[in-house]
Amino acid sequence: MLIQPFVLTPFQQNTRIVACKTTRRAICIDPGEASEAIVDFIDENGLELLAITLTHGHLDHVGGTTYLSGAFPDAEIILHRDDEDLYYGLPDQPLFLGVQPAQLKALGLEYERPPKLTRNWEHEEVYAVGNLEFSVRHCPGHTRGHVVLAEMNEKKVFVGDCLFAGSIGRTDLPGGNYEQLIESINSNILSLGDDFIVYSGHGQETTVGRERATNPFLTGAYNVSRGKYI
Ligand SMILES: [Fe+2]
Repeated sequence: MLIQPFVLTPFQQNTRIVACKTTRRAICIDPGEASEAIVDFIDENGLELLAITLTHGHLDHVGGTTYLSGAFPDAEIILHRDDEDLYYGLPDQPLFLGVQPAQLKALGLEYERPPKLTRNWEHEEVYAVGNLEFSVRHCPGHTRGHVVLAEMNEKKVFVGDCLFAGSIGRTDLPGGNYEQLIESINSNILSLGDDFIVYSGHGQETTVGRERATNPFLTGAYNVSRGKYI
């Protein structure tokens, strides 16, 4: 598996091109913003972009969809149905984060309505990219329609904003639910096994084993109902 990260947006989001080295077929997981570097990377490495695969609908994960889809119009655009409201409401998302309309342009957060989705993810579907096979798992909690993509042979999982090295996704935005997120992480990520490498939407890579052993939200060290360490 070829994995090329691009750290984009004021939110330092990890956009990734993921490709099968044998067939050169590729996907872009979560294009955060318009990026010529991504288009150049695909072209210069002779990759065929099959799809723009979205883990969830937040602006820092879908903001580059219009640009990338314009460069590769044959690529599918796939998102879980429960995040369609976020996706199609992209132009309004910065306002929900408290950004003033007059500031949108200066912050690079001025969006047009993104292109129509090709289809929706289904929980437990297997999505093939050349010889790679991704198990798609619906993981609500950070957003209603969040999914993670797990490649079972190479033991790598792309978790978007569900899980981070030492932390978990925020649950205070619309559609967020703390108990649901913990349940999603337990059933769909920790269950993969300790040797899986975890690729998050922000920050460094980690492993399932490291997070199971040390992540305070998963070990019980942090008690969210009391809002402090116990
Ligand atoms: Fe997010």
